[in-house]
Amino acid sequence: MDSLFESVEGENREERLAELARQVSVCTRCDLALNRTNTVFGTGDPYSPLMLVGEGPGENEDATGLPFVGRAGKLLDDILAAVDLTRQDVYITNIVKCRAAAQEGGRLKNRQPRTGEIRACNPYLQGQIEAIKPRVILCLGGPAAKTVIDKDFKITKDRGKWYDVDGIKTMATFHPAYVLRQRGDDLDRAKRAVWKDVQAVYAEYQKALEERG
Ligand code: URA
Repeated sequence: MDSLFESVEGENREERLAELARQVSVCTRCDLALNRTNTVFGTGDPYSPLMLVGEGPGENEDATGLPFVGRAGKLLDDILAAVDLTRQDVYITNIVKCRAAAQEGGRLKNRQPRTGEIRACNPYLQGQIEAIKPRVILCLGGPAAKTVIDKDFKITKDRGKWYDVDGIKTMATFHPAYVLRQRGDDLDRAKRAVWKDVQAVYAEYQKALEERG
């Protein structure tokens, strides 16, 4: 599937992304294509030094075609605002571009994407990374970290650490949806961890902007 990206090589960044988004919109590489309303490719500044990688669209994202528009998205906005960033300052995408869902009690409920679905979608994420060439990647949650950093990544043990992924400074933190599920002391701990991680990411983002001049 490397040829997918080679076929859009040589065009400018927006054109490469537009072509990838077009390919995603008609993708049938896995069964997630069967039930989707919209594909969710990614949004934000394709020239940002910072890319955020989440897990995948849920019900709200599937309905709108935009990443992180539900409750987790609202918390993501607050996390970014804690370091004076907005969605427009970064590029946001996911490891899979279609909603993973399963029938439960007569209705479709969001579920984690399966390994085969993540693998099928990976060339699109790699294409986005190659086009955008971010200086820093922040993975949101374990599945994103396992996909981008290391298959054996353990989010509770390994979050908040820097990894070199093909020359890109990469970190993982807890997924906003995970934070929302915590209560009491666990909620405080999870929030403190994410806020600490995002400060470290922001410092690298600033450094990248300064170096760019
Ligand atoms: N959770 C994700 O990981 N991505 C989204 O786009 C929305 C919720």
